Amino acid sequence: WATFAEDVDAILALKRRRNAVVLAHNYQTPEIFHGVADIVGDSLLLAREATKVDADVIVLAGVHFMAETAKLLNPAKTVLIPDLKAGCSLADSITAQDVRLMRARYPDAPVVAYVNTSTAVKAESDICCTSGNALKVVESLGAERVIMLPDEYLAQNIAKQTSKKIIAWKGHCEVHELFTADDVRQLREDHPDVTILAHPECPPEVVAEADFAGSTAAMQSFVESKRPPRVVLLTECSMSDNIAARNPDVDFVRPCNLCPHMKRITLKNIRHALETNQHEVTIDPAIADRARKSVERMLAI
Ligand code: 13P
Ligand code: SF4
Repeated sequence: WATFAEDVDAILALKRRRNAVVLAHNYQTPEIFHGVADIVGDSLLLAREATKVDADVIVLAGVHFMAETAKLLNPAKTVLIPDLKAGCSLADSITAQDVRLMRARYPDAPVVAYVNTSTAVKAESDICCTSGNALKVVESLGAERVIMLPDEYLAQNIAKQTSKKIIAWKGHCEVHELFTADDVRQLREDHPDVTILAHPECPPEVVAEADFAGSTAAMQSFVESKRPPRVVLLTECSMSDNIAARNPDVDFVRPCNLCPHMKRITLKNIRHALETNQHEVTIDPAIADRARKSVERMLAI
């Protein structure tokens, strides 16, 4: 069994040999985030950075929809996902056929698809969004009502910030839906000086009780600019681990929930991906152009 350090060294050597980069989401474990990633960030940053990569190979240390987005933006490059089962409960909650039915029901409403969706769903949508730009994307559209899918809670949280009517789907993130308003109240009782940051995939009643809601990158900026003495991040566990390493003066209180999909990615399978080219992400050419347009429209905003 190779140690962490041996795997890190092997990955660094493989990246040089194969002219590869590792793009890692903020929920990756610290040994990936700090040890082998070239670029780390939220979904929006990973999509933006994917358009600038000049390496031959991209290893996406994150979940499958993130790798698909990177491939959509880099059709000529090899994009690898170290575990094909690294999915997402939101992406699994809706199909392209569901989107067509929503359109038929609300023909005047443009469709905003969260990036946490399959390529087929993106292809049926008008524009994508992430938690980092959802409000901007919704406000950029001329229509009075907008379909936002598949995350019901993100849609409800955005609906509170816009005058547009938001039509939601019933998908949920299996990690963020577990946080409750009672959790928030208990946290305040236990730690009266705590600042509570929530991801907008949390239920609206949780966001309402939090001090701030934003994407994983926005949470990080909040911590690094405001420097609260004690903070809790209502999101996936690795997020606090990764930021805590860079902010030793901030006390991180940690009730958190693990994303089993994000945790499928390990140093071992990143190394294996670079050694064996498994698993290469491919996109159905029949839907690639339409899906890419949805992502590119978002990036243009
Ligand atoms: P961010 O875009 O905020 O990083 O969120 C991605 C995600 O999967 C949250 O659960
Ligand atoms: Fe999907 Fe939730 Fe995991 Fe993010 S945390 S990848 S939204 S299941």
